[in-house]
Amino acid sequence: MRKYFVITGLVMIIYACGSQTQNKDNGSTPAGDLFNEKGNPPYDPNRGEGKFTTVDLGAGINNEIAEAGMTRVYDIKCSACHKLTDEKLVGPGWKGVTTRRHPVWIMNFVTNTDEMLNKDPIAQSQLEICLVRMPNQNLSDEDARNVLEFMRKNDRVK
Ligand code: HEC
Repeated sequence: MRKYFVITGLVMIIYACGSQTQNKDNGSTPAGDLFNEKGNPPYDPNRGEGKFTTVDLGAGINNEIAEAGMTRVYDIKCSACHKLTDEKLVGPGWKGVTTRRHPVWIMNFVTNTDEMLNKDPIAQSQLEICLVRMPNQNLSDEDARNVLEFMRKNDRVK
């Protein structure tokens, strides 16, 4: 009887390993079951979804565009919901956001908010915490780049 259990156990372990290998063969990523509505390619949680595939960050902080990001974007369109500390207001505080998120993810999120909230697992988990869905802010590409620089500056300086 005991022998029977041992064998059953072994079979189950082998089966479990087998199905894992199968997953790899399918080429699925950790987020492999999150396909977009066309079926592929799989959603990339680092890049998010939107028009940006790369962001040229240059060397160091560009104070001029960080300033524009503060006065023309953050102060007007974001400060009602986002603090610059790690404290949550309506949305998560921005402290550390540039280390939590890839620059490209941020650019895509702020210009394609609705679609990303429909697809991004982490943004969705924040939605559960914040209970508010961040509205699309209609940022231009330039606004997005400026506010990203402002976030980077906020993370380095404070
Ligand atoms: C009405 C409130 C509101 C406004 C205004 C708002 N946000 Fe948000 N934001 C949120 C919420 C809430 C979340 C969390 C995700 C969710 O629940 O939608 C969020 C999430 C984010 C995140 C991801 C943060 C993280 O830690 O991953 C970024 C980046 C962001 N917002 C940028 C912006 C920018 C840039 C602006 C201004 C142009 C802005 N937000 C304006 C409510 C807001």
